Amino acid sequence: MTAPTGPGRLLDSVGTAEVVRLDAHLARWGAVPDLPVRSLLEAVDQSGLRGHGGAWFPVGAKWRSVAAGRSPIVVANGAEGEPASGKDRLLLHHAPHLVLDGAAVAAKAVGARRVIVHVSDDSVADVTTALAERERRGVDACSFEVVIAPDRFLSGQESAVVNTVNGRNIGIPSFVALRPVREQGIAGRPTLVQNVESLADVALIARYGPQWFRSVGTHDSPGTALITVTGLWESSRIVEVPLGTTLENALGITPGRADTIQAVLLGGYGGGWLPTSTALSLPFTEEAARALGTSIGAGVAVLLPAGVCPLVEVARVARYMEGEGAGQCGPCVNGLDVLASQLELLAHRPHTLSGGLSAFPTLCGLVEGRGACHHPDGVARFVRSALGVFGDHAAVHLQRGPCQTTRPFLPVPSASGVLR
Ligand SMILES: Cc1cc2nc3c(=O)[nH]c(=O)nc-3n(C[C@H](O)[C@H](O)[C@H](O)COP(=O)(O)O)c2cc1C
Ligand code: SF4
Repeated sequence: MTAPTGPGRLLDSVGTAEVVRLDAHLARWGAVPDLPVRSLLEAVDQSGLRGHGGAWFPVGAKWRSVAAGRSPIVVANGAEGEPASGKDRLLLHHAPHLVLDGAAVAAKAVGARRVIVHVSDDSVADVTTALAERERRGVDACSFEVVIAPDRFLSGQESAVVNTVNGRNIGIPSFVALRPVREQGIAGRPTLVQNVESLADVALIARYGPQWFRSVGTHDSPGTALITVTGLWESSRIVEVPLGTTLENALGITPGRADTIQAVLLGGYGGGWLPTSTALSLPFTEEAARALGTSIGAGVAVLLPAGVCPLVEVARVARYMEGEGAGQCGPCVNGLDVLASQLELLAHRPHTLSGGLSAFPTLCGLVEGRGACHHPDGVARFVRSALGVFGDHAAVHLQRGPCQTTRPFLPVPSASGVLR
């Protein structure tokens, strides 16, 4: 079957809003070749594929460590707890068979017979329909089960995924993890947790090989990324771009349009804010973002338009993130609430904020590096970067008072799970 030659790979088969059923999927991509385990491991190593769930860890290295254990289990992670991301849901809706092919390849490579598809409620119907099609055709040698991820920010963190599948502390990261989940995860067995976009890439690497995969992207970050872009169009859209492309080029943003963007949030609510010109000219890779103290996370770019008070938005997100903490460790129990409260004062009642902005670096420092998971670190990065980028706006609040009219912009789920 023809390998895609344009920038669109995972979205190549979708183009439209149609769901790609098994017949169309096989007609487009053909069956996954039956490669020996060694070739699969080598292909993924050589491809340089890195995980698209947020940490950008090399996939091949993780597979080898899981394959070294006994009776491993594979999880296709489509929880997508980040409210500003929609790419995993889109992929599972439009091209579920690419994800399931990739999961089956991963299972074969690490020696697993059981695959858990861990997805939000929104994706269950897409996945179960696709699994039923595969079962009728006898496509897979491994077994698949679907597990619903709770609608929470942390539910996709890998120890939280393991807890959900194990049925204890559902959707909550492990407070004390003696061993990483790749050694001891579901039912105490070595567990490979892999993001669904990473698995869809695996499905294409198994078909077309590592050199084809490396034909777009950069040396350290080969391939493409699905990016959820908010703020450029009426509603959020998902685009697929070669890694290393600038947002300016990928999105065709003219200088005139850039002037209407106050700042850009990369990586979502555990990521960080950058000035517009810096963000738009940055090669879209994790290493370029890290060099500036942020992250591209699961491929999120929020372009904050003029007319929205950034401090109100930062306070809304900080309060949401505080509510999403699992309340097990000091920073989540004490620190995040104080941080969110201070941000709310800065946004709405700045004259009551004694000491101006001086308390924020200390408050961020008190939560950083002290949780059992990186949730508080992500919040601190979000807040620190906001105060850096929106410092002038904060000074105006302190001198003249809060913005008079503002409309909520960033997607923040309410307690009922509805975005508001
Ligand atoms: C707070 C937090 C939330 C996360 N949420 C998700 C998620 O929704 N989906 C996901 O695939 N990975 C998520 N991750 C990353 C997972 O822990 C894990 O690294 C990932 O699923 C591994 O797949 P990958 O290597 O293909 O990225 C999250 C991590 C953290 C710290
Ligand atoms: S840092 Fe917060 S979210 Fe992470 S494990 Fe501790 S209490 Fe839970």
